[in-house]
Amino acid sequence: MTTDYRFLKACRNEPVDTTPVWLMRQAGRYLPEYRAVREKVDFLGLCKSPELCTEVSIQPVDIVGVDAAILFSDILVPVEPMGMKLDFTPAPVFQNPVRTQADVDALRVIDPQADVPFVMETVRMLRRELEGRVPLIGFSGAPFTLVSYMVEGGGSRNFARLKSMMWGAPALYRELMEKVSETVIRYVKAQTAAGVQAVQIFDTWAGMLSPADYLNYVLPYTMRVIQAVKAPGVPVINFVGNSQGIMPLVAQAGGDVIGVDWRIDIAEARRQVGMDKAVQGNLDPVALLAPPAETDRRVRDIINAAGDTGHVFNLGHGVIPQTPVDHVRAMVESVHEHGSSHRVGP
Ligand code: CP3
Repeated sequence: MTTDYRFLKACRNEPVDTTPVWLMRQAGRYLPEYRAVREKVDFLGLCKSPELCTEVSIQPVDIVGVDAAILFSDILVPVEPMGMKLDFTPAPVFQNPVRTQADVDALRVIDPQADVPFVMETVRMLRRELEGRVPLIGFSGAPFTLVSYMVEGGGSRNFARLKSMMWGAPALYRELMEKVSETVIRYVKAQTAAGVQAVQIFDTWAGMLSPADYLNYVLPYTMRVIQAVKAPGVPVINFVGNSQGIMPLVAQAGGDVIGVDWRIDIAEARRQVGMDKAVQGNLDPVALLAPPAETDRRVRDIINAAGDTGHVFNLGHGVIPQTPVDHVRAMVESVHEHGSSHRVGP
C-alpha cells in the first residue's frame, strides 16, 4: 500500500518532489463528462450509486491531472437519514427545517453501515481503482455548517434563524450540535475504516461568526470531531470559509492541515496557524476564468508565499461551473512546474 504520495507527504509537512494540488468540487459541472453522467440521474441518485460516484470521482484525476481524488458525495448526504427531507435544486433544500425541541428530539444519530452503505461501498471501489495512482480523500461537513442548513432549511444570507436559536435557545442549539457531532464522528470513522487516506472537514459557514462566537459555539464541537476521528496515517484537513478573522482559533480546533480561502495571504495564514501544521489553498476560484498567463502568475505567488514544505495547493472554494477545463488543466501543470521541488534529495 503506497503512503508516499506527494499529497500525503505535504499533509505531513514532509519534503515533496513538487507541490501537490487538488480542487474542491473538482468533480462537477465544469466537466462535460460529469454533465453526461448527470443527464442520466438526479444528484441524490448519483450520490447513492457507488459505480457512478466512483466514475465521477476519477474523472478529474484522468482529465486534469490532480494529485488526489475526493469521494463524490455531498455534505448533506448523512443528514438525510437523521430524519431530514432533502432535495437539491441544485442548491440543497430541507422541507422540514429544525426549529423546536420536538424537531431536535425527532432526529436520530445515524449508523453509517445501515444508513449510508453506498458511501463506504464507493470508498472501497475507489481504493481498488486508484491504488498506485493517487490517494483518496474522504470528507464530512463540520457540525456547525450542517446545522446551519438544518435550521435555515437551505442556504442563507444572514443566518438569522440559526443565530436566533444559538443566542435565544442555547440549550436547544447545543443538543442539536451534539447529535450532529455524533453523526459526523460515526460517519468519518466509517469512511476511514473503509479506506480513505485523508479526511477533509468542511466548515464553509463558520467564518460568518465573530471570534467569540466561533470559540463558544463552534470550536468545542469541531475539536471533539477532529480528536475522535484521528487515525494513524490519515491526516485531517480543517477547512473553514472566510476564516481570516479567526485563523488561530481554527488552528486550535485541530487538523494536520488548515484549509484557507483567498481572503488571506497564505504566508500570513501560515504564521497565524503555526509552522508545525500544513496549509491548503488558496487561489480564488474565479481566477480560473482569467487568461492562463494571469492565473499562472497567481499560482507562482501563492507557491512562493506558502513555503517549501507543508503546502497543498487548492482553490479557496469550489470550482465554479463555467470554468474552462483547459484552464484547470493548465493551472494544475503550472503548480507542478513551479512547485517546491528543490528540497527533496540529498
Ligand atoms: O468534487 C468534490 O469536491 C466532491 C463532491 C462534493 C460536492 N459537494 C458535490 C456537489 C463536495 C465535497 C461537496 C461539499 C459541499 N456541499 C459543501 C462544502 C464545500 C463548499 O462548497 O463550501 C457544501 C456547502 C455543500 C452543499 C451544496 N451541495 C450546495 C450549496 C450545492 C449547490 C451549489 C451549486 O454548486 O449549485 C450542492 C450541490 C452539489 N454538490 C453539486 C455537486 C457537484 C452540484 C449538483 C449538480 O450536479 O446538480
